[in-house]
Amino acid sequence: MMACCGRSLDSPCTLALLIGFQFAFVLYFSLGGFRGLVSVLVHTTEPEFDYSRPHDVYTNLSHLGAPPPPPRNSSAGLTASGQPLRDCPIPSPMLVGPVSVHLFSPLSLDEIKQRNPLVLPGGRYRPPDCEPHHHTAIVVPYRNRLSHLRALLYHLHPFLQRQQIHYSIYIVQQWGNGTFNRAKLLNVGVREALRDEDWSCIFLHDVDLLPENDHNTYTCHKQFPTHLSVAMDKFRYRLPYPQYFGGVSAVTPDQYMKMNGFPNQYWGWGGEDDDIAARVRLSGMKIVRPPVAIGHYKMIKHRGDKGNEQNPRRFDLLKRTRLNWHSDGLSSLNYELLSKELEPLYTNLTVDIGEDPRLNQGRVPVAVKSTPVHPRSTSNVRDTAKQENKLEERAAANNTVVKLSEGKRAPVQSKTANQTTQGQTGVVK
Ligand SMILES: *[C@@H]1O[C@H](CO)[C@@H](O)[C@H](O)[C@H]1NC(C)=O
Ligand SMILES: *[C@@H]1O[C@H](CO)[C@@H](O)[C@H](O)[C@H]1NC(C)=O
Ligand SMILES: *[C@@H]1O[C@H](CO)[C@@H](O)[C@H](O)[C@H]1NC(C)=O
Ligand SMILES: *[C@@H]1O[C@H](CO)[C@@H](O)[C@H](O)[C@H]1NC(C)=O
Ligand SMILES: *[C@@H]1O[C@H](CO)[C@@H](O)[C@H](O)[C@H]1NC(C)=O
Ligand SMILES: *[C@@H]1O[C@H](CO)[C@@H](O)[C@H](O)[C@H]1NC(C)=O
Repeated sequence: MMACCGRSLDSPCTLALLIGFQFAFVLYFSLGGFRGLVSVLVHTTEPEFDYSRPHDVYTNLSHLGAPPPPPRNSSAGLTASGQPLRDCPIPSPMLVGPVSVHLFSPLSLDEIKQRNPLVLPGGRYRPPDCEPHHHTAIVVPYRNRLSHLRALLYHLHPFLQRQQIHYSIYIVQQWGNGTFNRAKLLNVGVREALRDEDWSCIFLHDVDLLPENDHNTYTCHKQFPTHLSVAMDKFRYRLPYPQYFGGVSAVTPDQYMKMNGFPNQYWGWGGEDDDIAARVRLSGMKIVRPPVAIGHYKMIKHRGDKGNEQNPRRFDLLKRTRLNWHSDGLSSLNYELLSKELEPLYTNLTVDIGEDPRLNQGRVPVAVKSTPVHPRSTSNVRDTAKQENKLEERAAANNTVVKLSEGKRAPVQSKTANQTTQGQTGVVK
C-alpha cells in the first residue's frame, strides 16, 4: 500500500485512498455520529419547560399593581419627582414560564379592565417603575370575533405586563361585509400605529392565538423579521413547514419598509403569510424564531368565517410575488380610516379597505356606501391625518421612493337603498 501510493499523487492508488476516507466519513455520519453531536448541542441550548403545570396567567401581576402609576413627565423618562427611572431588568424577574390558557375569557371586558388597573385607554401600558427597553405595537386584524377578542385581551394584558415592555394593542376592524383581507388590514394597522408612536417593534397577531409561555417576549430582532408562533397546538407543536410565517410574527419599522410592507391583493383565506415570508427573502432578510420549547401557542377553534372563504387565486398570486412585491404593498396602500376609538383595553381602528376588485368586474363600482361613523371619531381621524407620517419621514430620509396614498375616494355619505344590496353581493364567493 505505502509503496504503491508513494509513486505519484494522482495514481489510482491515492484515488482509492481518498474514496476510502470519504466512505468512512459517510458511514460515520449515517451511523449517527453527526446526529449524536447535534443532539448533544441542542440538548444543552434548548430550554426545557414543564407545560403540564402552568401558572395562572395573572401570577405576579399584583407586584405591578401596588403603586399607582406616578404622573410621568413621559418621554423624558422621569418620575414626578424628576428622578430618572432605572432601566427595566432583562429578563423581567416577573416571568414564570408556562401559563394557563383560557380559550373563553372567564371575565367580561369590564372585569378584565378591573384586573388590569394599570392599562390605559387604547390598551396601552408602560411599566410604572422602570424604563422599558422595548416599545411594541400589537396589531390584530379583526372582524366579528368578540369572544376571541375577549379571550385574547384577558390573556395578553397580564402576559405582556409581566414582560415589562411598553405596548399597545390595536384592533384593525374591516368595515362592511366584503371579503376579508388580513394582510391589507395589517398594513393599515402598522401605518396607524406608527402615527401614534415611534414603536420599535410591531407584532402581527391573529386574534385566536394565545401564547403559552411568557419567556416568549414580544420584542423584535434588530436585523430580521421574527416568527413567534412556531409551535401551535393545531400543528401538534411543530412548525408545519420551514417557511411558515403565519399566526404571530414581528417586524421593526425598518424591516417592514425594506420588504415594502405586506401584499394588498390577498382577498379571502390563505397565501398572504407565504407571500410575506417570500418578501422577507426577496428583500435580503431571513426569518428568525424562538426555540420550539418557548414558542408554544394555543389556537381557539372555530368554524370558517363568512366573508373569509379560501382564496382560489392564492397560488397564482404567490407565483408572482417576485415580480409584484415592489409595486404591491406599503407603496400602493389605499384605505379610509372610518373611526379610531380608544377603548379601555384596545384601540379600535375601523377601516374601509375597499373590495376585491375581481368582484366588481363588469359591474358599476360601489362609489357611495353607508358608514356608521361617530362624530367624535371623525374629528379624531382628521386630526391624525394631519399629522406627519413617520414612515413617510423615514422613507424621505433614506431617499426611498415610497408613495403612501391615502384613501382618495368620495367622502363618506349616508345610506341609500341601492348599495345595501350591492354590498351584500360582495360577500358571496
Ligand atoms: C416636565 O418637564 C418640564 C421640562 O422638562 C418641566 O417644565 C415640567 O415642570 C415637568 N412637569 C412635571 C409635572 O414635573
Ligand atoms: C413570580 O411568581 C413566581 C411563582 O409564583 C415566584 O416564584 C416569583 O418569585 C415571582 N416573582 C416576583 C418578582 O414576585
Ligand atoms: C352586513 O350584513 C348584515 C347581515 O348579513 C347586514 O345587517 C349589514 O347591514 C351588512 N353591512 C353592510 C355594511 O353592508
Ligand atoms: C434608513 O436610514 C437609517 C439611517 O440612515 C438606517 O438605520 C435604516 O436602516 C434605513 N432604513 C431603511 C428602510 O433603509
Ligand atoms: C369598533 O368601532 C366600530 C365603529 O364604531 C364599531 O362598530 C365596532 O363594534 C367596534 N368594535 C369593537 C370590537 O369594539
Ligand atoms: C339607485 O341608484 C341610481 C343611480 O345609480 C339612482 O338613480 C336611483 O335613484 C337610486 N335608487 C334609490 C332608491 O336610491
